Amino acid sequence: MDHFLYRDGALYAEDVPVAEIAAAVGTPFYVYSTATLTRHFKLFQEALSGMDHVICYAMKAASNQAILKVMADLGAGMDVVSGGEYARAIAAGVPGEKIVFSGVGKTREEMRDALSGGVRQFNLESEPEMARLNDVALSMGLIAPVTVRVNPDVDAKTHAKIATGKSENKFGIPISRAREVYARIARMPGLKAVGIDVHIGSQLTDLEPYRLAFAKVGELVDTLRADGHEITRLDLGGGLGIPYARDNQAPPLPLEYGAVVQEVLGDKGCEIEIEPGRLIAGNAGLMVSEVVYLKQGEGRDFLILDAAMNDLVRPAMYEAWHDIVPVTEAAPGVEQSAYDIVGPVCESGDTFARQRMMPPLAEGDLVAFRSAGAYGAAMSSEYNTRPLIPEVLVNGDQFAVIRKRPSYEEIINRDTIPPWL
Ligand code: LLP
Repeated sequence: MDHFLYRDGALYAEDVPVAEIAAAVGTPFYVYSTATLTRHFKLFQEALSGMDHVICYAMKAASNQAILKVMADLGAGMDVVSGGEYARAIAAGVPGEKIVFSGVGKTREEMRDALSGGVRQFNLESEPEMARLNDVALSMGLIAPVTVRVNPDVDAKTHAKIATGKSENKFGIPISRAREVYARIARMPGLKAVGIDVHIGSQLTDLEPYRLAFAKVGELVDTLRADGHEITRLDLGGGLGIPYARDNQAPPLPLEYGAVVQEVLGDKGCEIEIEPGRLIAGNAGLMVSEVVYLKQGEGRDFLILDAAMNDLVRPAMYEAWHDIVPVTEAAPGVEQSAYDIVGPVCESGDTFARQRMMPPLAEGDLVAFRSAGAYGAAMSSEYNTRPLIPEVLVNGDQFAVIRKRPSYEEIINRDTIPPWL
């Protein structure tokens, strides 16, 4: 459930009419609901309540400082994958000991920053990375807490671009090499293994791949302990999917996911860490856009919006479906027609939906893309020199701009002209 509902025919974000925000900030924009973010976080807390656990929000999904602050105030840790994300987490007030550092290409500088600012653990993804972190930690006179991300070779049954747990993916160390790798870590004085990490992919709609991966991790806990390693934490990654289309079957709930964790790993005496991103932010955000033109093509009608692929790239990149709804609710029983819904960017991939059934719309009408809170603003760009669109946070009957739209001047002034020109 989210907090974007119609009241008397007008779409609201919590207690604020979406049209009122549009009038104040202009379109297109993103709007997030604090109540929905909070609700989703709490669902995970409840799901894991029987176990010692930490929820490290995967901030790659939506990393605005205000969203991070909402999460941090709820007690969330963070999963970061770059120096920039680490800096954002610290700036939002997340203590270093609640930040896990993931990612396949951590640089020396990122390692140094996290070691000096404080970090819960590094999730290591390769043997060269292990050696480098060992060097960096020793040069600072520190010992880096680490887990190894194991690749369990499990099919997550999701879109190929976001599956990460198969042996052909670039992620993690093959689980078959884990014993050797942990033995190597034990010989490295700058590293201390504290647990095991696994993340098999994103937008998972079936719990079986989790069950398989967690079972492999469970076996590995026993093997590594028998080898003399102290395994106290299990980082189980993120990935739980969300319903993108309202009429689709709903993916498993956090409670059901939590039950699988408990069942498969509950008796290991480990602290459980999870890194959910999409489930927390996805349905907590809308992207709102205005119809610029209705264009009749040959055999198809186009709805040309003022939002484009640079603002929400998921449809172009993953053929992702987002429900697109009018901000003023259509009268019941009104006849719908099929539109190709597109943006103004100069490529055919700038298509949000093909032959989507929509109620009658006219120039100037507002539409909202649902489930746009995760990997929406976070993946946006200024392609075609279209300014990054504003982000707005709603809380009850209040709203605030949490990232303003840059002016053309601000965009242009980021560039510099070399002295010879
Ligand atoms: N932990 C790790 C190590 C990850 O790589 C990811 C996502 C997560 C946690 C969070 O997964 P989530 O709970 O959000 O599924 N841009 C794509 C999704 C990419 C996911 C990348 N990794 C999309 O728009 O669908």
